[in-house]
Amino acid sequence: MAQSENVIGTAAPFAPGHHNLTAIRDALPHCRGCELYQCATQVVPGSGRSTASIILVGEQPGDQEDLQGKPFVGPAGEVLHRALAEISLDPAQIYVTNAVKHFKFVRVGKHRVHKNPRMSEIKACRPWLLAELDAIKPKIVLCLGASAAKSILGSAFGLMRDRGKVLSTPFAKHVMATVHPSAVLRARSHTTRDLLFRHLRDDLEAAFNFSRHAA
Ligand code: URA
Ligand code: SF4
Repeated sequence: MAQSENVIGTAAPFAPGHHNLTAIRDALPHCRGCELYQCATQVVPGSGRSTASIILVGEQPGDQEDLQGKPFVGPAGEVLHRALAEISLDPAQIYVTNAVKHFKFVRVGKHRVHKNPRMSEIKACRPWLLAELDAIKPKIVLCLGASAAKSILGSAFGLMRDRGKVLSTPFAKHVMATVHPSAVLRARSHTTRDLLFRHLRDDLEAAFNFSRHAA
C-alpha cells in the first residue's frame, strides 16, 4: 500500500506524549514516519529491563528480527550475546533497541539483504529512540555501530577513532559507541574478527562499569 501522502519524514507525530515503554510499544505499529514500514513484516520495538542502567542501540532489525518482532535474535544477536556472556553481563539486566525500528532490505533471489538506513531515515526514527531513553533514563547509552552513533552523536562521529569514550550530547548525557556485532561477522580475516570482537566486548564492559558507578 503506497501512502506517500502519509510520509512526513519524522516519527514525532506518532510517538506518545507520555513516555513509558507500554505506550511506546502500543504506538509504534502505527508509525508512518518514513517509508520503511511499507515493506517490513512488522515494527521491532526495543526489549529488556524498563529500569536498565544501560541501553544498547543497534542499527535496525535484520531478517530474523523482522520475522520474530524482537531485536538481536539473529546472527548479530549471537555475537552480542557471546560478548555479554564473556563479561558476565546478564541480558535481562539491560535494554536493547535499534536506531531504526523497521527492517530495510533489497530482495536478491529468495533472500532479503540488509540495506543501511539513510540519515533521513535515522533522523525520522529518532523520536522513538529518544522516547525510550526518556522512559528508561539509563546511566549510559551504548551505540552499536555507525548508524546508532549517527542518531545520537551526529554524522561527523568517527567510530574507530572515538569508540570506547564516554561522551555527552544533547540527546544523552553519557553515551559511548562501539563496533556493531555484524562488523565482527563480516570481518575478512580471523585477526580482524578477533580484534573487532575484543573491541565490542571491552567497550561493553567499560560502558557497563560506567553505568554501575555513575551518579
Ligand atoms: N542488527 C541490528 O542492528 N539490530 C538488530 O536488532 C539485529 C541486527
Ligand atoms: Fe516509523 Fe521508524 Fe518505522 Fe520509519 S523506520 S516507519 S520512522 S518506526
